[in-house]
Amino acid sequence: MAKYAVLVFRGQALSDDEHANFTRQFGSIDRGLNIAYDKKSRLANEAVIDLANIDAEGNVFPAEHQRNVSLLANQLWHSDSSFKSPPAKYSVLCALDIPDEGGETEFADQRAAYDALSDAMKTELDGLVAEHYAFHSRDMLGGSEHSDSGRSRLPPVHWPLVHTIPESGRKTLFCGIHTREIEGWSRAAARVYLLDLLEHATQREFVYRHHWHVNDVVMWDNRCTLHRGRRYDLGLKRELRRCTTEAQLPVA
Ligand SMILES: [Fe+2]
Repeated sequence: MAKYAVLVFRGQALSDDEHANFTRQFGSIDRGLNIAYDKKSRLANEAVIDLANIDAEGNVFPAEHQRNVSLLANQLWHSDSSFKSPPAKYSVLCALDIPDEGGETEFADQRAAYDALSDAMKTELDGLVAEHYAFHSRDMLGGSEHSDSGRSRLPPVHWPLVHTIPESGRKTLFCGIHTREIEGWSRAAARVYLLDLLEHATQREFVYRHHWHVNDVVMWDNRCTLHRGRRYDLGLKRELRRCTTEAQLPVA
C-alpha cells in the first residue's frame, strides 16, 4: 500500500463478515456517510457500506429514486470520508454484480500529482487548509436524500491541501469534490482554485482505470488517491460493497 496505494485482488468471493474482518486488520472501521442516514442499511453487518443500486428485495431503483443522487455523486472525483474526522485510510471494495459495460472505477495518484506541480504551486499550497463537506457534491447535484438532522451529524472539517504519508514519507495532494472552501480565501477564488487543482490532480498520466470482474477486491489508500466511478446504465443492476478504515490523526 505504501508503494502502490491501489492493490487489486482477483477472484475473492468474500462474505460480508470476511470482508469486514479483513478490513479490520488495517484499523478501526469508518462508517462514512452511513452516519448521516436515518434508515438502517439493508446489510446486517454495519461495517459494510452498501453501494448497490438495488433495494432490500433486489429490485433496481427507479430513475427518480433519491438514492441515485448518492450513486451519481460517487462518479465525481473524491477521497472516501475526507469530509469527516478522522477521515478514511484504506477502502476495500468488493464487486458482487456488475453491468457488462461502464461502471469502471478510476484512481488518481495524488503523490504523483503533487510531484508534478511547479515549485511555485508547491510554495503556494504550503500551509493552505481546505474545508471538506459531505453534502457539497450532493448539493451540486440538486439535493440529497439526507435529513437536516442527518446532515448535522457530519459538519464540515478542515484539512491541509498537502500532507505527508507516514509510511512512505511522500507528500500528497488532498483535494477532491468534497472540498468547498479554502481558509482565509474568498469563496469564489477558493472554488476556482479547487477546481483548477482537481483538474491538475486527475490528469490521465496519474490515473489507473479498473475494469471490474465479479469477485474482484480493490483496496486503496484514501489519503493519497482520488477515485470515481464511471458512468453506467443506472437501470442495470450493479452491486458493490465497501469497508473502510479510519486514518490516524493528525493529518499533517
Ligand atoms: Fe468512494
